[in-house]
Amino acid sequence: MSRRLERGGRLVLATHNAGKVREVSALLAPWGMQVQGAGALGLPEPAETESSFLGNAAIKALAAAKATGLPALSDDSGFSVASLDGMPGVWTADWAVQPDGSRDYGKAMAEVERQARPFPDRAAWFSCALVLAWPDGHTEGFLGEAHGEWVWPPRGEKGFGYDPIFVPAGEAETFAEMTPERKHAISHRARAFALLAAACLPEPPAA
Ligand code: IMP
Repeated sequence: MSRRLERGGRLVLATHNAGKVREVSALLAPWGMQVQGAGALGLPEPAETESSFLGNAAIKALAAAKATGLPALSDDSGFSVASLDGMPGVWTADWAVQPDGSRDYGKAMAEVERQARPFPDRAAWFSCALVLAWPDGHTEGFLGEAHGEWVWPPRGEKGFGYDPIFVPAGEAETFAEMTPERKHAISHRARAFALLAAACLPEPPAA
């Protein structure tokens, strides 16, 4: 039996990324939750030591729920290539890190192409894990995936990260070429959020 959040209750977003706080706050707006980021609350960032998206999201959500005594929501996401046995996967962000600490997604995408070029199988997917944790240690996890193919060269200026090299199944455009509305209708994040909403957000918001 899944556990639901209370309408209008407080919820911590277990992320230090201000962009993610904004994005998830907007998604949660219809449910009237009072949302705060872990960074704004001065919470430490735990190490992501698991080998799955759900495992790493659970680490972050549990740490924030225990530290604050409030329910906490975390996300962990990444890009996987079938011919590379699912890499970069949970190391998706790490593949972009440069020696000076900055991130270069052009180089990260080129590394995917360099490694996957020899294989005829172009299958790839994005994953998004959302985990909701309560201070008593109860957790609920949801995994959304968007399947398709990786393409080369990169195409499109919209989106972020690995969007320019991913074409979802049944589409002609990359995630970086399509409108944000189209991407958000079919993305891994939208799918995970729909599962979370159905199971754990307060009963459907007023229309
Ligand atoms: P996280 O912030 O630890 O979850 O890392 C997610 C990684 O996956 C980052 O490198 C992102 O650029 C990449 N990523 C996740 N979702 C997307 C997406 O929708 N488009 C492109 N890249 C994504």
